[in-house]
Amino acid sequence: MNNPSSKKLVVVTGASSGIGLALVKALLAEGYAVLGVANNFEKAGLSHPDFSFRSINLADLDTLPDAMSRLLAEIDMPVKALINNAGIGRMGFLEQLSVKDIRLVLDTNLTSQIIVTKAFLPLLKKQGEGDILFMGSEAALKGARQGSIYCASKFAVRGFSQALRDECGKSGVRVTLINPGAVRTPFFEKLQFEPDLAPENAIEPEDIASAVSMVLASRSGTVFDEISLSPRNQVWKKKSL
Ligand SMILES: NC(=O)c1ccc[n+]([C@@H]2O[C@H](COP(=O)([O-])OP(=O)(O)OC[C@H]3O[C@@H](n4cnc5c(N)ncnc54)[C@H](OP(=O)(O)O)[C@@H]3O)[C@@H](O)[C@H]2O)c1
Repeated sequence: MNNPSSKKLVVVTGASSGIGLALVKALLAEGYAVLGVANNFEKAGLSHPDFSFRSINLADLDTLPDAMSRLLAEIDMPVKALINNAGIGRMGFLEQLSVKDIRLVLDTNLTSQIIVTKAFLPLLKKQGEGDILFMGSEAALKGARQGSIYCASKFAVRGFSQALRDECGKSGVRVTLINPGAVRTPFFEKLQFEPDLAPENAIEPEDIASAVSMVLASRSGTVFDEISLSPRNQVWKKKSL
């Protein structure tokens, strides 16, 4: 990690694309050092002296604890925040989803976030400060057809974040859940629908980055429990893959 100065580090999972990549760019512009985690960073095309990344398959739960131990051993500066953002969507009626897909969604969107958070918690508690953010979804707030497993993963993240907030407050660690509606990202590339093209039909990833910046800059005695964002209009467009 290339950071001899007094910078603070923000760790962002799912940093190679979409919301995560927008977060990385905004955080670098604000002067943070950023450590990104994703499968593959080639597509991000991002090079910055304060940005480092590790290619880790978060859905490989057997190797994840060791991967996190190695990652933590490399960190040599205060950690301002852990942003659990990586996630995938597999949509369809329940009987259309394979058990493999069900496991992949739950492993990626839920269990990996629990394991990553568990790995970082002792460091954050020892520091006596730090933020843990989760990228929830409007799907964490309301179930919708063809989203049963995705909603299950996000509802669970919401419950986890609420319990964790309660557990962490006295240690100085804050926990925040961000619940976006449709955000215009590559998330929809493998899905049969996407937000319609008009700008008011989707949130931009930079809007999520602004919300995260606000959370990180807030007074340490205040916690943003949850932030929900929606596009002004909700118009979806079907597409063929
Ligand atoms: N887009 C939306 O409308 C929307 C709305 C609400 C919430 N969200 C949530 O926002 C988060 C980010 O989504 P996005 O829209 O930015 O989608 P995206 O552009 O597809 O980005 C997803 C990110 O997660 C990473 N990722 C996925 N599986 C991974 C794994 N097994 N190991 C490591 N990294 C993995 C991807 O890295 P690789 O490509 O390298 O695998 C990528 O960096 C997700 O949690 C999603 O559920 C999205």
